[in-house]
Amino acid sequence: MYTRPAYHVVAPRHWLNDPNGLIQWRGRYHLFYQYDPNPAGERKSWGHAVSDDLLRWRHLPVALEPGSGPDQDGCWSGCTVVHDGTPTILYTGVRNGVQLPCLATAVELDELSVWRKYERNPIIPEPPPGLELAGFRDHTVWLEDGEYRQLIGSGIRGVGGCVFLYRSPDLVAWGPPSIFLTASETAAARDTEMWECPDFFPLGDRHVLVTSAYGGDGMRRTLCFAGSYTDGRFAVEREQVLDWGGHYYAPQSFTDRRGRRIMFGWLPDPRGIEVRRASGWSGALAFPRVVRLDEDGLVRNDPVPELLGLRDRSRSVSGRALPARALDAGLHEGTALEIEIEFGEIEAGAVTLALRALGGGDPEETSVVLDGRCRVARLERRQKDRTVQACGGPARLEPGARLRVFLDGPVVEAFIDGGAPLAGFHGIWSQTERVAVSVSATDGVANIRRLDIWHLTQP
Ligand code: FRU
Repeated sequence: MYTRPAYHVVAPRHWLNDPNGLIQWRGRYHLFYQYDPNPAGERKSWGHAVSDDLLRWRHLPVALEPGSGPDQDGCWSGCTVVHDGTPTILYTGVRNGVQLPCLATAVELDELSVWRKYERNPIIPEPPPGLELAGFRDHTVWLEDGEYRQLIGSGIRGVGGCVFLYRSPDLVAWGPPSIFLTASETAAARDTEMWECPDFFPLGDRHVLVTSAYGGDGMRRTLCFAGSYTDGRFAVEREQVLDWGGHYYAPQSFTDRRGRRIMFGWLPDPRGIEVRRASGWSGALAFPRVVRLDEDGLVRNDPVPELLGLRDRSRSVSGRALPARALDAGLHEGTALEIEIEFGEIEAGAVTLALRALGGGDPEETSVVLDGRCRVARLERRQKDRTVQACGGPARLEPGARLRVFLDGPVVEAFIDGGAPLAGFHGIWSQTERVAVSVSATDGVANIRRLDIWHLTQP
């Protein structure tokens, strides 16, 4: 049983998964998400939360609930698009295992708290015919040359994940589909059963497609393809994994009023159902991230600058060379911290930032390990001095690189210059009074120009 994250979005009661329908409307951020007030998370509604600053969220009543039509068993994931001045949701209705696209329009335009479903749902009557599909769900929509384009996630048996493209003049009548991209045209994830939650958007001088690869083995990974998009054709130039923490899934992004591309992702809860039931909540959303293209054409996602507003009392250490003995960065109250390290030259084989829980139950530690001469970044959770979880991916730490880590009870997010972020439930699970922070280097010297620690606080 672990404590509820205090700064990450969780459902008011029990189950949360994918972020949905993200939009900034009349200045306010609207976050919908897959919600079930029961712990098993079997019958999905659209939960709804709003914020003025991406930091403090206020829960509103459920926006969409299963009805008596094609969504009788669930209102699954989708997006919001503004059509003729009215926010309009495209989502997947589920009835008897059949997944079909449905539409709903906002009828209360202040808080977007009341939605009316289109009476002739579904808007596409069947999945693309003549193919053996492993699923047909989740939507991303944009307006192009006066026409709506929609991508729907799917998978073709024997081929793997794929995304279909549809066109419509009005969001209601959709022409025949074409294949937008299949796993066989990419290097990644050919073994996946289907691609869920497509998200497609322009970024810099490129376009980016993010899909959540659902494997036949139950594995889940978030893939990101950057390339060129012309005349309805997407040519992939680069592929990457969006987050190496092993828990970041089904992300969705939107453009805010300042023109920033902001992304939210779901962190699935690794606890068993009984433990989740007893704790009253399940799953969290990762902190919002700004998505951008870097100088090398790679997609980067960094925490939104608004998160600086959570910084409270701080403690700072500067100018240290780390030999084998750990740098003790003190004891800190509670389990909500942000830590930032700016490195100088690193000649070490590995550098470890360790957060050790004190005053709780069994000894527990969560660490960010920069390993293999800092070419690999890993999150690790240790209990009773045994590693119980570890996940990571490639990194390339240059002098001057920064490592930024957020700890919010069980949730950790690590952002590394020169590597993809790592997010997940690798944090401190027990009720802990204090956290001891230390940094150590093995097999050589690591120079630390500066290390700062802040307590997180709600502004
Ligand atoms: C991804 C997903 C989506 C689906 C939703 C159902 O996590 O499986 O494909 O629409 O969750 O809650």
